[in-house]
Amino acid sequence: MKIDSFKIEDWMNKYCPIAKYDLTSTCIAPLSVNNLFSFDNSREIFNTNLTYGEIQGSERLKKAIQSLYTNQKQENITVTHGAIGANQLVFLSLLEKGDEVISILPAYQQHYSIPESLGAKVKKGFLKEENNWLPDLKELEKTVSKKTKLLIFTNPNNPTGSVIPDNMLEKIVEIAKENNIWILSDEVYRGLNLYGNPYSKSIADIYDKGISTGSMSKTYSLPGLRVGWIAAREDLTDRIITHREYNTISMSILDDYFSSIALENKNAISKRNFEIMRNGVNILKNWLNSEPNVNCILPQGGTTVLIRYKKNIPSKTLCENLLKQTGTALLPGKTFDMEGYLRLGYCVNENVLKNGLLCLSDYLLNPMS
Ligand SMILES: Cc1ncc(COP(=O)(O)O)c(C=O)c1O
Repeated sequence: MKIDSFKIEDWMNKYCPIAKYDLTSTCIAPLSVNNLFSFDNSREIFNTNLTYGEIQGSERLKKAIQSLYTNQKQENITVTHGAIGANQLVFLSLLEKGDEVISILPAYQQHYSIPESLGAKVKKGFLKEENNWLPDLKELEKTVSKKTKLLIFTNPNNPTGSVIPDNMLEKIVEIAKENNIWILSDEVYRGLNLYGNPYSKSIADIYDKGISTGSMSKTYSLPGLRVGWIAAREDLTDRIITHREYNTISMSILDDYFSSIALENKNAISKRNFEIMRNGVNILKNWLNSEPNVNCILPQGGTTVLIRYKKNIPSKTLCENLLKQTGTALLPGKTFDMEGYLRLGYCVNENVLKNGLLCLSDYLLNPMS
């Protein structure tokens, strides 16, 4: 199976290790093992034999994941290797050569490169800055057809930081229903809405053919646990489990244990994360107020924003030179098909964020192309 190289991953693997101020991260300063043990007096894990564990995930973990939804049974949940494993299992279980898919960009490259590699015909819809990075429903209505099998989007969105309002989500469901289309909503940032209810409605809760993927990495600040999940109706879940048996066996018993503890204490984790997010937004706002060389729509949720810079330089050249001159790493728009933009992760360490933004301002005053 041929597949395009994963441009964001390639970029980050090459440049993040040498950055002094790394502003590429999509995570909220991750938690430590000590942080997790502060929620766990039992220390049960020390007496646990490291077997494969419960093959499809422990009941404790599935119950904790189920609590994130309003309308899901444990039979609808598949525990996976991160959201990256979750998305891949959905594509493998659903798509065949010749299927028509709509992927809304900018997005995680998985959302179009894996369907393409499976022989699907992928139509790409683009979120636009003038729509506050929200989907254009008129355009979507024109793009879908009776041949469309799957619509894919991310909510909240990486990289733009937009959040699809629940009433717009309902309208997207209506469009999909009329055409009998599955929807995959990558909800790895769900629970991180800055305004109103932190949790948007999940697509799996409001649509019979809605598939939600999520994970411990962003909302719960535990990317090192490598636990994700899929919520989908039972007949699709059965197909997903068949594929899972070929590439997963089980999640690590350690990951399962710590993920259960974290989800059972999600309110405490969420409180800490929102402090970091709000602080990041304030720093970003202050910087934007005094920075004439960029435009940026402030985030409604998630951990990233897109910065449009007013200089005529290719984004990769800008990012390479910025890193060389100042040690600041940003993600060039070119790596996610959005030339002219930079992706900024604003939930990183406060000093890293402040210093990195100052370096970007200095660079934009006198850019070396
Ligand atoms: C939209 C999106 N989906 C999936 C993933 C993969 O996340 P995980 O660490 O859960 O595998 C990422 C990681 O950045 C992401 O941004």
